[in-house]
Amino acid sequence: MNTVCTFHHRFLRGVVRSVGLVSPLILAGLLLFVPDSGRTAGQGPVLPDGPGKAEVQKFCTQCHELEKSLSPRQDKAAWGSTVGKMVSFGMKASEQEVAMLVDYLSRSYPADDVPPIRVNTATAIEFESGLSLRRSQSLAIIRYREVNGKFRSIDDLKKVPGIDPAKIEARKDRLIFE
Ligand code: HEC
Repeated sequence: MNTVCTFHHRFLRGVVRSVGLVSPLILAGLLLFVPDSGRTAGQGPVLPDGPGKAEVQKFCTQCHELEKSLSPRQDKAAWGSTVGKMVSFGMKASEQEVAMLVDYLSRSYPADDVPPIRVNTATAIEFESGLSLRRSQSLAIIRYREVNGKFRSIDDLKKVPGIDPAKIEARKDRLIFE
């Protein structure tokens, strides 16, 4: 009886001792390998969970900051063209990965959150994402603004060469002329 108990105690003490020694190492290891959740180098945006998150982390950090990747707030069609543009810039994603990216981005960064567009101060990127325009069209608006001065109404904006008036009309609630 006694010998068994002593053995038991010694055994337990041995376990306690080795755990005591090993656990700081395990802890350090865990701290080192905690998966980072969308943060690059300790800062940056945290991506909402969901299918496609891993793909965004993998691809949308390759050529520029994640912040830039997530800056547009736009509908699915516009996200499709943004991601398509990145493919044309050399992003090597499969068709399936592209679909995952577009789904995730349009779910997580939808057009509904789009802030109003201040037509007389907006940048090309804001026109592009806010009105789902091509870069050339956004630049045409800016050129027109430089030449003709402030836009006073939506009708002025529709006069810009190469602009689809229906697209402008569809987003008129979001436009601020001041
Ligand atoms: C192969 C390189 C590459 C990858 C990968 C990449 N981009 Fe880009 N991205 C660019 C280049 C080049 C530009 C234009 C120059 C700049 O603004 O840095 C750009 C610009 C952008 C812009 C600014 C607006 C615009 O359309 O020019 C957004 C938004 C964007 N990328 C989103 C993304 C998203 C989302 C992903 C992941 C799906 C991504 N990028 C992955 C190369 C890349």
